[in-house]
Amino acid sequence: MPKIKIAPSILGADYGDLNHDLQRLEPFSDIFHVDVMDGNFVPNLSVGAPVVRCIKTTIPLDCHLMVLHPDRYIEAFAEAGAHTILIHAEASKNMKKDIEKIQSLGCDAGVVINPATPVSKIEKVLSLVDQVLVMSVNPGFGGQPFMAEVLPKITWIREHYPNLDISVDGGIDEKTASYARAAGANIFVAGSYILKADDPKKAAEKLRKAVQ
Ligand code: DX5
Ligand code: ZN
Repeated sequence: MPKIKIAPSILGADYGDLNHDLQRLEPFSDIFHVDVMDGNFVPNLSVGAPVVRCIKTTIPLDCHLMVLHPDRYIEAFAEAGAHTILIHAEASKNMKKDIEKIQSLGCDAGVVINPATPVSKIEKVLSLVDQVLVMSVNPGFGGQPFMAEVLPKITWIREHYPNLDISVDGGIDEKTASYARAAGANIFVAGSYILKADDPKKAAEKLRKAVQ
């Protein structure tokens, strides 16, 4: 089982004072999860590579591209300083090619599946990727309830790929994280639970305790 990691999703951060906001999260974050939304693949807009370029941190940035034509943006995110670039199986026209492009630029590559997408859609690329992200809400917005029906997908992937980083994103709190952990996830993306907490440090610590 790979290392357990807590990844605050910075969708709910203060983008007017982003570096200052992220500094307070650094001591208890293993990864910063950056949600990139194009208003087409998902019905919401967020930030692009120029914002990622402005982030000053030593914490690795996982860029979750919820965009159509992810291949068009891979270079920009690699140049902007992404550690991992995650593309959606539903959006990529050629997953193998996109994964190879990400890795050739020196980044880790991840593939993401929506709640309705079966593992069979990504089976062929699972041996190529550095991370697989199983969405536990329909992407587009923070604050949605966790969909427990995705857990069997995590179980299947963990059974077949014992060393792969498996992340889970959407509706993560202490309770749902422990379900995902039991299924085999090791990276826990949490937006509202950490960012909207009165004490984000305490929330992250509780989350870590629940999955350790
Ligand atoms: C949803 C995003 C998530 C989101 C998670 O489309 O991919 O990363 O920020 O937010 P919570 O934890 O509030 O569900
Ligand atoms: Zn995300």
